Amino acid sequence: MKVLSVVGARPQFVKAFPVSEALRREHTELLVHTGQHYDEELSGVFFEELPIPEPDHNLGVGSGSHAEQTAAMMQGLESLVDTTDPDAVLVYGDTNSTLAGALVAAKRRPALIHVEAGLRSGDRSMPEEVNRVLTDHVSDLLCVPSARARTQLEREGIDRGIYETGDVMYDAIRYARTVATEHSTVLAELGLDPAEYVLATVHRAANTDDRDRLGRIVSGLCDSRIPVVFPAHPRTVDALHRYGLYDEAREGLELIDPVGYLDFVRLLDGAARVATDSGGVQKEAFYLETPCVTLRETTEWTETVDCGWNVLVGADRAAIRDALAASRPRGPKPDLYGNGQAAERIVEAIDDLSGSDR
Ligand code: UD1
Ligand code: UDP
Repeated sequence: MKVLSVVGARPQFVKAFPVSEALRREHTELLVHTGQHYDEELSGVFFEELPIPEPDHNLGVGSGSHAEQTAAMMQGLESLVDTTDPDAVLVYGDTNSTLAGALVAAKRRPALIHVEAGLRSGDRSMPEEVNRVLTDHVSDLLCVPSARARTQLEREGIDRGIYETGDVMYDAIRYARTVATEHSTVLAELGLDPAEYVLATVHRAANTDDRDRLGRIVSGLCDSRIPVVFPAHPRTVDALHRYGLYDEAREGLELIDPVGYLDFVRLLDGAARVATDSGGVQKEAFYLETPCVTLRETTEWTETVDCGWNVLVGADRAAIRDALAASRPRGPKPDLYGNGQAAERIVEAIDDLSGSDR
């Protein structure tokens, strides 16, 4: 099969590398970067560090409103689908790059494969939730990370094409942890001792576009009794400046530029706790047994909360402070999202698709 894979934002480069590797053993892949992320630290570094092929095409769409960005991606993807005539389009996760790929495939009719299907936070005010729901409902092959995600799709009336593959980020982090432990020098560079610091990331619109929420998050993190390392997404740095919060963050936190995936995995592995509003980081924390404090009211990775490794604190200063100081969860950690062989299972599902009359 000829598969046109669409990536564009930081977590999608991470998800793509195990899948591209497995896919290219049996199928032809064209990798398309939409250009949603373009800074070196949000894009280039992932292609330099990870064994991902260079994109065959970069649409270079850059930033913009949701409509501007999605429309520009759709135009670029539509013309690529027309010229390259793929059998399938493969999209990852829940970003605008995901939705653009999904809508183009749904209209032009190559099969649509969604990796990370079936996740729901239940919060339709988040653009990512809208992207998830719409993408799932036009997909032909839905690769779900968990039994709960399958049940969710079935509840929504989707009863064909669901494959429980496990989570491809587990595949990625198993590789990255080994390499990062051997090669990353980030802890020494930042003067950090393992288990003696908190790692923090914030980039969700609900947190960066609301002065009060961002202010309470910064204050809650600054209350931590141990140092907080904060690799800040550019939209968060802009928001800190815009709202006059930059100096408080600079003084109370170790504010640094986003780091590459290997350094991030090393930082996460060594942290006493992580505080984040990221989707991917919640799961990565679980895999590395770093307790997670989620700076949101909802999550699509609900199983991590149910088993006690993740706690939802929103933007409540006192709840953030208390959660950062709480004791570690006890008891065995369950297997929630497969066994780290998701890429192989996704390719098996694609093999089935090539033999089907969808
Ligand atoms: C996007 C995704 C989000 C995902 C995140 C991963 C959507 C709606 N959002 O959020 O689901 O969790 O990527 O990190 O698809 N910017 C730069 N340099 C870049 C890219 C962006 O400075 O390379 C700045 C621009 O000011 C831009 C802002 O960040 O307007 C937001 O970028 P955008 O890609 O729209 O959303 P993210 O917050 O990155
Ligand atoms: N990440 C990284 N460097 C950083 C912050 C995050 O490499 O400074 C990685 C992280 O390990 C995970 C991915 O980026 O694999 C998560 O991206 P993000 O939080 O931006 O997006 P989300 O998962 O919320 O969509």
